[in-house]
Amino acid sequence: MQHVEALEVLLQGLSGVPKERVRVHELCLKSGPNLGVVSSEVRLLCDLAQPTPSWTIRHVGGSMRGAGAEQISILVRTIVESKASNNVLRYFYTIGYKLDHEILKVGFAFRFQRGAQFTVTVTSANKMPKLHATDEAVQVTPGIQLVEITAPCAANNYTDVVSAVTSFCEFLAPLLHLSKPGNSTGIVPTAGAAAASLMSSGGAKTM
Ligand SMILES: *[C@@H]1O[C@H](CO)[C@@H](O)[C@H](O)[C@H]1NC(C)=O
Ligand SMILES: *[C@@H]1O[C@H](CO)[C@@H](O)[C@H](O)[C@H]1NC(C)=O
Repeated sequence: MQHVEALEVLLQGLSGVPKERVRVHELCLKSGPNLGVVSSEVRLLCDLAQPTPSWTIRHVGGSMRGAGAEQISILVRTIVESKASNNVLRYFYTIGYKLDHEILKVGFAFRFQRGAQFTVTVTSANKMPKLHATDEAVQVTPGIQLVEITAPCAANNYTDVVSAVTSFCEFLAPLLHLSKPGNSTGIVPTAGAAAASLMSSGGAKTM
């Protein structure tokens, strides 16, 4: 928990923007056999932090491959998002999708510009004891937070975005090491001391 507070202080200093509350109900749907041979997966996200919850459909594509992709420490992939009305779940059920799992992500986010349009989220995963009962959600893995850093890029600027994200990750190095899936990631061994010094300095330092 101290690590999370220290990370928040660090992110606050680096981004210079106030944190936003995150409370997202995420439903993962898979297509049934009647919708083609290869099953497809979509995520419906309901943003519960807004006064009026809003829905987004997210499709996550495969990651960039090849020698260039191997060399960079960041995963580049297509993510297609569309806003949807609040009957979107019924729509997907009607055309043959089934609920695979649902989760409530709770935490905070910082959105800012620093050589790229960054979104950094720190969330914990919560599960619902009953279908869609987000008010009764309980933490799945107490004490474990998911830290995600994303920034949009296009074919003609992804190298700039990759270097902006890579250098931003260096600033987090006193606390955690981030990488793409497959490479070791996590809290660094000396994070306790770094967290204590960040907390005692009040985090007023801007980098
Ligand atoms: C993954 O980890 C290995 C071993 O630590 C390292 O050599 C390699 O550069 C890393 N790859 C990326 C893309 O970070
Ligand atoms: C790269 O291009 C994408 C898509 O046009 C844009 O959203 C993003 O802000 C650009 N990033 C930079 C660093 O130029």
